[in-house]
Amino acid sequence: MTDTINAQDHALTADQADEQARREEELIQRVLDSFDSTPDARLKELMQSLVKHLHAFIRDVRLTEAEWEQAIEFLTAVGHITDDRRQEFVLLSDVLGASMQTITVNNPANGDATEATVFGPFFVDDAPEIQYGQDIAGGAHGQPSWIEGTVRNTRGEAIPDARIEVWEADEDGFYDVQYDDHRVAGRAFLRSGADGEYAFWGLTPTPYPIPHDGPVGQMLAATNRSPVRAAHLHFMVTAPGYRTLVTHIFVEGDPQLEIGDSVFGVKKSLIKQFAEQPAGTPTPKGRDLGDQTWTRARFDIVLAEDTDEQN
Ligand code: BEZ
Ligand code: FE
Repeated sequence: MTDTINAQDHALTADQADEQARREEELIQRVLDSFDSTPDARLKELMQSLVKHLHAFIRDVRLTEAEWEQAIEFLTAVGHITDDRRQEFVLLSDVLGASMQTITVNNPANGDATEATVFGPFFVDDAPEIQYGQDIAGGAHGQPSWIEGTVRNTRGEAIPDARIEVWEADEDGFYDVQYDDHRVAGRAFLRSGADGEYAFWGLTPTPYPIPHDGPVGQMLAATNRSPVRAAHLHFMVTAPGYRTLVTHIFVEGDPQLEIGDSVFGVKKSLIKQFAEQPAGTPTPKGRDLGDQTWTRARFDIVLAEDTDEQN
């Protein structure tokens, strides 16, 4: 691998460059060998592959000692800001696309099964239950939006009684758990009906930034990247015998879709039309919205069979 060492850049003769490469490769081999007797075969594979890629990176960029120190300081800061409420390591994984790549690897294309995307840090598992057509807003501000669809399997059969968790930020870009007053707003769960149908009132999603007041935010600023996520509404859908689906829907026409989603969560199949309804348009379930405009969107969900039988 002498090609990773440019003799001219480092003022090395060809012989010195060869010797340098030999030393670097010898070190890699020793580190790889140190994992040879790992009893767990998968752990061994993970560690040896990690070593190969990490050393390849260090050699590729010819990492300086000052840069290595800066990287350690950065990771230390990521650790320091992380606590029960703030997970900066997950955020780092998200903005590097590592979360989304892990999801992509683990949710292989399966017929027309709905695509998965990032979970995000704002799900809570004790959201209130609502019935068909009820409102999840719980006082959260924003433009009302009627969301409806069905839950089906890849053969087109309805899945009744699927559990559909939904959560979203308010129009100021905050989830309920980001306020200090213990409010429960912009989240609920409901069950699909006998024909797989579901519907609820939510809010038209609006773009908002991921937490960017920590080291990950500094990294985004230093690289001229926006912390803003494309507007979205989160779903998690579970039903016995099917893979749990964690996904969002995005809003067609949202300019942030062009600029880019800070955590790479957007998939074309998940972009939905939130059709604008003028004030006074009759509403589903006869909800009185006075002189407010509202939107409506359709999201038909297709669950993949769980071949591992673990749900
Ligand atoms: C979110 O969708 O809420 C989110 C996802 C990843 C990182 C931060 C926030
Ligand atoms: Fe979100």
